[in-house]
Amino acid sequence: MGSLLIKNGSLVLPDAIINADIYIEDGKIKSIGTDLSEKADKTLNAEGKLIFPGIIDEHVHCREPGLTYKDNFTNCTKGAAAGGTTTILEMPNTLPPVENVKAFTEKAELLSGKAFVDFGLYGVLHNSNLDQFEPLVEAGVVGFKVFLGPTTGNIPPPSDGALFRILEKSAKHDVTIAFHAENNDIVNFFTSELSRSGSNDPEEHMKARPPVAEEEAIRRIGLFALRTGGRALIVHVSSKEGVNAIRELKHLKANVFGETCPHYLLLNSSDYKKYGPLIKVNPPIRTEEDRLALIDGIADGTISNLGSDHAPHSAEEKKGDIWKAASGIIGVQTLFPLALHMALSGVISLNVLPKILSESPAKLFGLYPNKGALQVGSSADLVIADPKGSWKIKEEDLYATYPTTPFVGWTLKGKIAYTVLRGEVIYDGSTVIGPKGTFVKRIKK
Ligand code: NCD
Ligand code: ZN
Repeated sequence: MGSLLIKNGSLVLPDAIINADIYIEDGKIKSIGTDLSEKADKTLNAEGKLIFPGIIDEHVHCREPGLTYKDNFTNCTKGAAAGGTTTILEMPNTLPPVENVKAFTEKAELLSGKAFVDFGLYGVLHNSNLDQFEPLVEAGVVGFKVFLGPTTGNIPPPSDGALFRILEKSAKHDVTIAFHAENNDIVNFFTSELSRSGSNDPEEHMKARPPVAEEEAIRRIGLFALRTGGRALIVHVSSKEGVNAIRELKHLKANVFGETCPHYLLLNSSDYKKYGPLIKVNPPIRTEEDRLALIDGIADGTISNLGSDHAPHSAEEKKGDIWKAASGIIGVQTLFPLALHMALSGVISLNVLPKILSESPAKLFGLYPNKGALQVGSSADLVIADPKGSWKIKEEDLYATYPTTPFVGWTLKGKIAYTVLRGEVIYDGSTVIGPKGTFVKRIKK
């Protein structure tokens, strides 16, 4: 495997930025210090560059198997590597859904060998497969996804009884449940009422999924988490009400965490006019007030995780009637670049990046401290970025089958110089090298 010495970088840690060298051997960080003089097979000069732990994108829908007309695992993980991400956690709403051990094992086998970054797999839970919880944990899922509201894949929401049982099992087995938190009935009621009104204004999608739908689902999950001790990650939090609910639940000592995504931090309802169905996503992009509440949530730790919710669809599916268009925005390649841009622009702090993009995902999904930390003994997964550089996002730079994102044309502060996976360069600032990714399982305690 060999050795790598990275000289003179600025290591961005959750509590400090330190100037240091990193020496890597056999895929692991062997030492961190000043003036390291180990003889390495390869040396990288990181003078003037920022070094972060490799990004763990905990929320990715790569669409393989079954939905590869939208995108595929090769493109998805190439995009990840080019975007500074070294591990992705792949969502289970593929075809067939990952609802039993057979689907899990077949998906892991299918994707192994195609991966340009390391990957873990979620299982999905619904009313009819609660008995698969333990076998899927035993097989090595990193966690489970539960869809409470209607979304891509039409996986029906569990009953409240099943939801309670899922959180009991989460506590018993120390496994995180990632929730798509929207009240199914509220969303269906408003959607059918508004879609019948005849308006095709893209903003109607936002109105059809009001903040109370998100808030109610979060508070219900939170109550059950409090009573069971189960651990819940509320993914893609989009509203002020959602942030407030998580903040209150945390004060009550519920085991509840919040994730948001770059599109909720960088866009608001005024963008529907410009982008139309391209920015249709569940839950919806909301008002400026919601956007600012999410930024505050990151600042005070209520929102502890940032994921891309990379959700590709074909160009055809992302056009036309707002009610018929598919929900989801691509993002695996732009997660870290957009986060770095926000940090270098002063919207969020630089030190929060390793927490929300690496440490917290690794801790919640059983990968820490092998992954998610820049420390001796950890896997040598890192991303090296030039804070003085910039990246103008162009369609031809994006690996997704349909490189349509609202961020095309944006010029971001900062540029990735290298992505390093287990001590090997997998992206050198222009080319993705691999596939070198491996399948990772949750570390059992
Ligand atoms: C996701 C998808 O397309 O898989 N869509 C979305 O709008 N976010 C599903 C999801 O995460 O809800
Ligand atoms: Zn979702």
